[in-house]
Amino acid sequence: MHRHTNLQPLPLTKRHSVPPESSSARILVTRGQVYAKILIILLYIGSPLPLKSQVRLSEINPVPSLQRVIKRISNILKYGLGEAGRERKRADKERLRQEKFESERWNKDGDIVTRQYASYEAYVEHQSAKLDQIAHRLRETEDEDFADFKDRFQGCKALSEAGSVLCLGARLGTEVRALHALNHFAIGIDLNPGENNLHVLPGDFHHIAFPDGSVDAIYTNVMDHVFDLEKVMAEINRLLRPGGLFIADLLQGFDEGFVPGEYEATHWRNTDEFIERLRNLGGFGIEEDRNIGQRRRDTWRQVVFRKAPA
Ligand SMILES: C[S@@+](CC[C@H](N)C(=O)[O-])C[C@H]1O[C@@H](n2cnc3c(N)ncnc32)[C@H](O)[C@@H]1O
Repeated sequence: MHRHTNLQPLPLTKRHSVPPESSSARILVTRGQVYAKILIILLYIGSPLPLKSQVRLSEINPVPSLQRVIKRISNILKYGLGEAGRERKRADKERLRQEKFESERWNKDGDIVTRQYASYEAYVEHQSAKLDQIAHRLRETEDEDFADFKDRFQGCKALSEAGSVLCLGARLGTEVRALHALNHFAIGIDLNPGENNLHVLPGDFHHIAFPDGSVDAIYTNVMDHVFDLEKVMAEINRLLRPGGLFIADLLQGFDEGFVPGEYEATHWRNTDEFIERLRNLGGFGIEEDRNIGQRRRDTWRQVVFRKAPA
């Protein structure tokens, strides 16, 4: 009996083999059941909703999954449960983001700010690092993101005339897949497209490999990740065929409610002025300009610029 009073963790199989007549054995069995239940609950909380089927279990990396479980539990302890808890968490995150933005070092050029990097290489390294941190979250939301991109593109009237579309900063290529679903020829480039990406090539939108006038349209939602705005706009102008379209989905400015986060490299005070800047740099006309509303946390505006016909 005494041996069991100082209970050491035993493999579950051993615990179940202890004869039930011993009271310490009963404690062991009960504890074993409780631990097993806790484990099942933790695994349930830790596995994101779309992955609850067996389909993509092979993609779950156990280490981030455990980290997510711990993070969720600590969030519940900190903010509480339900919508009120989620609201408290959002407000807290927003406050921290604002404090961070105000404490970081940004260069100011009129109403546009650019993050201070030690060098261009430091910018490339910083931007390339994001994917590894959020890959698991992107897999959870890929169906929703695909539907979102499809909706953005279906609402863009001018896009229907474009055969080929190049997507800048396309990461895993969700926007490229959405364009394929709408019968466009599309390809993306990104500093870090991850491994075995069939839709996105490694590439930097400051120096694009394709020839002059080779695409009908260019799409991006990452103007806030640009290092050198003039260079990027010159590349966009060079690649578009005469009369081609530049479609930019833009976040709000930092005076309009958007607080730049950890990976923003460029940002603007207000969207109207930024659109005017893009128009001047590209020498473009404006074809369409519409609010596309809130998508996840942020509010977006979609602007279609047109390069002058030959
Ligand atoms: C916020 S993510 C957006 C990804 C994708 N468009 C989406 O909505 O899912 C920004 C992306 O821009 C890429 N990026 C940043 N700077 C870049 C550059 N100079 N050239 C190409 N891609 C870049 C990053 O690697 C990252 O994948």
